[in-house]
Amino acid sequence: MKKVLKWSAVAFALVFLGAQAVRPDRTNPPVDASKTLGANTRMTPEVAAILERSCNDCHSSETVWPWYSNVAPASWFLKWHVDEGRRELSFSEWATYTKRKRERKLHEICQQVESGAMPLKSYLPLHPEARLSDEDRRVICEWTRREEGRQPDEAGAEGGR
Ligand code: HEC
Repeated sequence: MKKVLKWSAVAFALVFLGAQAVRPDRTNPPVDASKTLGANTRMTPEVAAILERSCNDCHSSETVWPWYSNVAPASWFLKWHVDEGRRELSFSEWATYTKRKRERKLHEICQQVESGAMPLKSYLPLHPEARLSDEDRRVICEWTRREEGRQPDEAGAEGGR
């Protein structure tokens, strides 16, 4: 029995070490400041602060990669979440979206936050600052409702006002 345990531990260690060789690319794409959500909506500093602490890591090109994103298999899991998150909604690519898409995404932001689906639950234990209060949710939804009604046909035309 002892032998089995010992060899299991050795096998586990080898697999763990081998896994470290598979390193996902964690380079953040470059950010064009004129294309961001912040530059193309009337965002109050309060809204900006909530989105930054709670959503930015997965929904922008400004991901702060934590130390454990160096360690497989956590690195694979994080990379997958960030890729998926950015694909669904990237604050850094906001101005590339059509008007219809922007309106839909604003609507979804409120919905996801109100239902508690976002930020992802798995994110919270290691990012307790991302947790939202009822007041945070109210502030977000008030802002998205206001913005939904005033999306320009061409994003980027407003230049940060
Ligand atoms: C740990 C990563 C992570 C964080 C943090 C996070 N998201 Fe997401 N988000 C995802 C992933 C992955 C998806 C796509 C898969 C899914 O819908 O579950 C997603 C999807 C979404 C969608 C699209 C949902 C749909 O069905 O179309 C919206 C909107 C969204 N997130 C908003 C937010 C907002 C707002 C915050 C901050 C309050 C946030 N997310 C925080 C990872 C994250």
